[in-house]
Amino acid sequence: MFSSFRFLVFFTALFASIATQTALASSREQIIEKYLRNMTLSEKVGQMALLTLHSVSKGDLPYGLTEPHQLDPERLRSAIVEKGVGAIFNTGIHAMSLKEWREIITTINGETSQTRLKIPILYGIDAVHGMNYAFGATIFPQQMGLAATWDPEMVEKVAAVTAYEARAAFIPWVFTPTMDLGRNPAHSRFYETFGEDTYLTASLGKAMIRGLQSENTADHQRVGATLKHFIGYTQPVSGKDRTPVYIPDIVLQENFIPPFRAGIEAGALAIMLANCELNGVPVHADQRLIVGLLKNELSFPGVVLSDWNSIYALYEQYHVARDKKEAIKLAINAGVDLNMIPFDLDFVTMLKELVENGEVPMSRIDDAVSRILGLKYALGLFSSPSFSTGDYPAFGSDSFSELNLQVARASMTLLKNKANVLPLTRNTKVLVTGFAADSMSALNGGWTYTWLGRDTDFYAKEKNTILEAIINKLGAAQVEYVATDYDSNTNIEKAVAAASRSDVIILCLGELSYAENFGNIDDLSLPKSQVELAQRLADTGKPVILILTEGRPRIISSFAEDMAAIVMAYLPGNEGGNAAADVLFGDAEPGGRLPFTYPRGPNGLGSYDHKSPEGYAFNPQFAFGAGLSFSEIEYTDLTVNKKEFTSAENLAITISVHNKGGRKASEIVQLYVSDLVATIPPPVKRLRAYQKIILDPGEVIKVTFLLPIHDLKFVDNNGRMSLESGEFEIIIGDLRQTIILR
Ligand code: NOJ
Repeated sequence: MFSSFRFLVFFTALFASIATQTALASSREQIIEKYLRNMTLSEKVGQMALLTLHSVSKGDLPYGLTEPHQLDPERLRSAIVEKGVGAIFNTGIHAMSLKEWREIITTINGETSQTRLKIPILYGIDAVHGMNYAFGATIFPQQMGLAATWDPEMVEKVAAVTAYEARAAFIPWVFTPTMDLGRNPAHSRFYETFGEDTYLTASLGKAMIRGLQSENTADHQRVGATLKHFIGYTQPVSGKDRTPVYIPDIVLQENFIPPFRAGIEAGALAIMLANCELNGVPVHADQRLIVGLLKNELSFPGVVLSDWNSIYALYEQYHVARDKKEAIKLAINAGVDLNMIPFDLDFVTMLKELVENGEVPMSRIDDAVSRILGLKYALGLFSSPSFSTGDYPAFGSDSFSELNLQVARASMTLLKNKANVLPLTRNTKVLVTGFAADSMSALNGGWTYTWLGRDTDFYAKEKNTILEAIINKLGAAQVEYVATDYDSNTNIEKAVAAASRSDVIILCLGELSYAENFGNIDDLSLPKSQVELAQRLADTGKPVILILTEGRPRIISSFAEDMAAIVMAYLPGNEGGNAAADVLFGDAEPGGRLPFTYPRGPNGLGSYDHKSPEGYAFNPQFAFGAGLSFSEIEYTDLTVNKKEFTSAENLAITISVHNKGGRKASEIVQLYVSDLVATIPPPVKRLRAYQKIILDPGEVIKVTFLLPIHDLKFVDNNGRMSLESGEFEIIIGDLRQTIILR
């Protein structure tokens, strides 16, 4: 009786939920249908325009905006009322307060009251490591640092805070996460990825989408996510931003498509295209890629948007169009729905003419506009475009800062710890030096208060640099600081002299902040003066603890051997200084593991899942997945439930993890599979599962992984996912077990 009652309750709830979903879907369809029926062609093409805030602001375009930021009523009216522009994005020149943001978004939305159909405006922003363009918001580690946590739950929480704080600024849509892989460390956008691995990227990307969107993006606590940048953008041959990419189909399918597929399955509402040429064709003009792969094969139902000026780039840079108008024709016919123009209003005029002349079919416009209206609907803009200011009491709160600190700590990756020099004791006398020691921008990188993240005037004053956090811990008397430069020899002698007065040297090296093409480099090596500083300090005989704050692995091989300890901090955000100091002094465990292969030399590139023939030459500085604990961790008893399998069965794999040391430890158990023989050369191993565990001193935890047999599949020479019988190895730590698939 009880169970049939539960059965009834379950099905009533299920049907109610299906009914609600269906009602929602049908009211969504009805709204879209209603608008499409009533809209003029001008109104439709207007919806396909995404203008930068600059274009509706006072000042000299493109970048000479007046300070403080002011909307220009005339420009705003012309864009929204005359041209019917449906979407705006970006910050002006720098971050703004919540009050400013709310006024801007409210005014922009208010302008739609002058339009015939009053379709709400879609506002989007690059909130790539927290709501990085609002003063007082929580600025988290960059995505590479999040990847180093290997912790989907944490990533989901970070994304939920980002969503909350963006909504607090009345912004419903963000341009994150990056689902492309970080496989070329020279690329300036390496730090915006989740690293080199397909599985890690897919799993963390899904977590990010859950956090950003949750079940209901219309609830004013969540935002719409945008997967970036479809596809292959982060793998330029030259390493320079927006330069050609060549990825064979088989690699695209095996490595680059799965994270995007996972993001689409997780319900991401938008996808931004890659502003590059992939295998000889500019992505924005590639119908096979946008319609064939993305919209048809991957069944992406959301908005496909261009990147910044990327449609005009078909004319200006790629030379596949004779003028801007032809560029528009190519891109819209190739399947682009929304054009991040970003400045001019000619787009709407030209697109309208193209439709009128029969060069762009009306069906294409209707497809684009339904997707855009669908996004506006999903974000709740039709039901309540206005917001209530009192709804965001947790914006910039201590509890969000605490989460930020936990995440930054969990990302810190201990790559070397000779003779257990770390953690340091509280009575150590330290010399702190290196250009990054007293810099908030070195902790944050690009997309922080400004695009390049360099203008420190905008940074939060109360946050701590690494130096400040160490002084807070030890007191000023125990800390000597010598400031040095990013790329000059200034004060090297002074630092060397100061070394004799300290027990330990804390050396903070890495990169100045940058974004996009401003991060192009010709050489992955660290600037000579930083190398010189490291070597001279090592020569003093005092133990040198190296902390790296960098968006990509700059080469350290000439002095890594001479460092007593190395901590990879990535770009750990506004709590990065505190987190680094906590790890140095043992107030936190170094929780991170490398989400990429750290190369030994500028040409020693390659990922952990390379093929066997590369193996003899593969000699990275630090391996993918590397990261030490302060404790001693031992793996034993790797078991697989059976030795032989059929393709109808799944694997159950267990491992015992023992914390043999006297400290609590945070461990990431990584499970790899190696296919020993396949019809195409198999990678030496592929990550197939992972789990973070926290172990008390002496504790043994038995971890079980249930692995679907289809995780042994690979993309074969015909481009199909193939499961081939034979031997496979299951690898965790140094342990291996062979299984046979019949
Ligand atoms: C260009 C960048 O490539 C993209 O990632 C970003 O979202 C847009 N600019 C908007 O700022």
